[in-house]
Amino acid sequence: MSVLGIIAALHQEIASLLQAMGPNVKVYRIGQRDYHEGTLMGRSCVVVLSRIGKVAAAATTVTLIREFKVSAILFTGVAGSINKQVKVGDVVVATQLLQYDINASPLFPRFEVPLLGLSHFDTDTILSAQLQQCAQDYISQDLAIDVNAASREAFRLRQPQCHTGIIISGDCFVSDATHSMQLQQDLPAALCVEMEGASVAQVCYEYEIPFAIARIISDQADGSAHIDFNAFLEQVARFYSAGILKRFLNNT
Ligand code: ADE
Repeated sequence: MSVLGIIAALHQEIASLLQAMGPNVKVYRIGQRDYHEGTLMGRSCVVVLSRIGKVAAAATTVTLIREFKVSAILFTGVAGSINKQVKVGDVVVATQLLQYDINASPLFPRFEVPLLGLSHFDTDTILSAQLQQCAQDYISQDLAIDVNAASREAFRLRQPQCHTGIIISGDCFVSDATHSMQLQQDLPAALCVEMEGASVAQVCYEYEIPFAIARIISDQADGSAHIDFNAFLEQVARFYSAGILKRFLNNT
């Protein structure tokens, strides 16, 4: 039976999935991470908290592929917007990922992963289309039930949208407007910034494992990025992440 790997960088983003897996889950501790093997909505899954950053996410991805023989990987979590059309509460489903902090120029072009000859890594089209549909359905049908009116108002979640496009990753929480503007100038097609996706993408490319990534926008990657971050995680993102993935597991 095929096994799906599910990764998030923060506990809140998988808490409800772990609860839904119930008591029959088997936990394997490898490289200081707990891999939860079991079923979710009748599907064989391994759910794991990678922790934050590209190295953590890459190491986790390799273990899922080599130790658990997963046939596909989904990553869910929050990201900061670096595009005016992308607002807090929106979802971005990646078409491609890029590591914005890799720069071996003048030996290799900026952003290119040296000796791999690639800067952009494509997500799996079918998985991504399915994830996008689930995100859209979650926003229109479940969000108002999961997230209370006070939190929806506090974060101005009036009509969240689902976008598809380029997500960029680097080992830095982007929390000043100058850094954000620089990224927007350097990579104008990018929709949001986070700290893991492109490393998962590179490993999946190297092992030829299909993958998809959904990011919920928690902040505008500027001077206020840190202010409501934890509140957003607790009151909003924890529901989104699990809600979108449960829909995915039920419908695909
Ligand atoms: N994840 C969520 N918000 C982020 C930000 N502003 N920078 C990097 N990663 C993030």
